[in-house]
Amino acid sequence: MRGKKGKAQKLKEEKLALTRRDFLRGASVAVSGGMLVGSGALATARPTPGTEILGPGEVPITLKINGALHKLSVEPRVTLLDALRNNLDITGSKRVCDRGTCGACTMIMDGKAVYSCSLLAIEAQGHEITTIESLSHAGHLHPVMAAFVENDAQQCGFCTPGFMMACKAFLDKHPHPKLEDVEEGLSGNICRCGTYHGLRQAALDAAKTAKA
Ligand code: FES
Ligand code: FES
Repeated sequence: MRGKKGKAQKLKEEKLALTRRDFLRGASVAVSGGMLVGSGALATARPTPGTEILGPGEVPITLKINGALHKLSVEPRVTLLDALRNNLDITGSKRVCDRGTCGACTMIMDGKAVYSCSLLAIEAQGHEITTIESLSHAGHLHPVMAAFVENDAQQCGFCTPGFMMACKAFLDKHPHPKLEDVEEGLSGNICRCGTYHGLRQAALDAAKTAKA
């Protein structure tokens, strides 16, 4: 009995190993294809007929940011975050991890919080992008921004713009949150200075102000 079980387990492991090998082989072709786009060197990485090839040089794009249209030229590989910071001088959103884990670069796209370091600028065309710059006008602060100030919800400040945008996107959809809702709603952002108590309270206060 034990012998049969052992054989079955071995077969299962061999199958899994094969699946992993196949996956890695496939992935390496896909990665190589990405690196060689435009060179024509990789015969197996042909695009689907009808697919438009852009780049690797700069292409003209138009982005709608905080209600205004901006025309710029970027290579297709450029992220939304870098396009705003480097091409348009809109620098409120911060680049920290640059790999979609910390949330410092959070912007709102069509009402949803997104990591702008993990989104290509070219893909953001035709969408409504909202950045931290939209939360204050002529000295008037949005309730989220005012609540962060009131609760001293920042230290170094690197995570703060991302947290404020995540907070706004969350409160727009959940106007009457409890503390546990806020904890979950802001769980995609990290504060290395540990200001979680202040910023969660800021979210609750901003919700109350908006209600009032
Ligand atoms: S900089 Fe984008 S998630 Fe960290
Ligand atoms: S205030 Fe420093 S990382 Fe959040």
